[in-house]
Amino acid sequence: MIASRLIDWQRRHGRHDLPWQNTRDAYRIWLSEVMLQQTRVDTVKPYYQRFVARFPEVALLAAAQPDEVMALWSGLGYYGRARNLQRCAREVVAQHGGTFPEDPQQLARLPGIGRSTAAAIAVFAFGRRAAILDGNVRRVLCRHAGVRGHPGERAVENELWCIAEAMLPRRDVERYTQGLMDLGATLCVRTRPGCAACPLSADCRARRDGTVAQLPTPRPRRSVPLRRVVMFVIRRGDEVLVERRAPAGVWGGLWSLPEFEPTFAGLDMARVDDPLAIGLADSVPLAREVERRYGLCVTPPRPLPPFDHAFTHLRLRVQPLACEPVVAGAPAGAPGLVWLALDDAAGAALPRPVKTLLQALAPGSPQGRAARRFAP
Ligand code: ADE
Repeated sequence: MIASRLIDWQRRHGRHDLPWQNTRDAYRIWLSEVMLQQTRVDTVKPYYQRFVARFPEVALLAAAQPDEVMALWSGLGYYGRARNLQRCAREVVAQHGGTFPEDPQQLARLPGIGRSTAAAIAVFAFGRRAAILDGNVRRVLCRHAGVRGHPGERAVENELWCIAEAMLPRRDVERYTQGLMDLGATLCVRTRPGCAACPLSADCRARRDGTVAQLPTPRPRRSVPLRRVVMFVIRRGDEVLVERRAPAGVWGGLWSLPEFEPTFAGLDMARVDDPLAIGLADSVPLAREVERRYGLCVTPPRPLPPFDHAFTHLRLRVQPLACEPVVAGAPAGAPGLVWLALDDAAGAALPRPVKTLLQALAPGSPQGRAARRFAP
């Protein structure tokens, strides 16, 4: 029986002296459970202690100045919780005579108390039989039952709730619930879980299938737009032309390589993904564009390996194109342009991927030396 193994494990290896344990005071249990939403035990402990010292009962919290509640919460994050905390305290006082209801469904109707928090309060304060499903418990159940799919998806979440309900023992629900929490916090952790010591490992599907590291399935990556650009690496000996970027927007105010939308000279998007397809036919319009913008006559640009750079809101695909001024020592004809020694790239205010590219081209770098050796 899964529950009895977990209960036994909790008795021997679980946590027994957290500040909100060994009490039946629903107010304290509620306060701790709200603080523990999305926040680790070690972070919560001092906040919890300060809160109960300042507001030892729900009526005092209900009557407090909101600013004082916010100040005590400051640093815990997710400040919506602090606002709901006081709203909830006021509802408990106004509608429940200052005592928290015992029924999980009634608890879940109070501000800031979701289904799992309601169940935890009902279990720990009133010994009720109710299933919890917080982030740690989702991880335990996804692995143990081999549930695939991101737990944030409605269908996956419903499945996990069914499993959580089905696993609930008839008796000792408090220790069982604490055991699930403790297991998720100490052994069945996200990376490098301690499966060897886990009381559930004998029938853990993920362990059997070798999918512990893959479960729970991560949130599907938000699709971010792809923006393609061309960057010119205009070399003059061991120097390269860099341009200061506009103060606003991506990499605002940094120095970077001259950058163009790929469509500027009739270069079509698909060919930017395939540097080998940027051929001689493109070279003339590309070189002409550099001349038009910078007053600099350059050799036909040659594609270097493209690279991607991920921003949170955007993926940038860069096609670097290398060329040299035709006339040695030709000045650039625009302000905000500088010839940067490749050896100085490391200390310059350049975007990271541009810095990496220039450092690779620097005369001292292995790639730079190889490029030289094989230069025509
Ligand atoms: N996480 C959420 N509730 C908890 C509790 N009561 N003890 C330890 N960790 C928790």
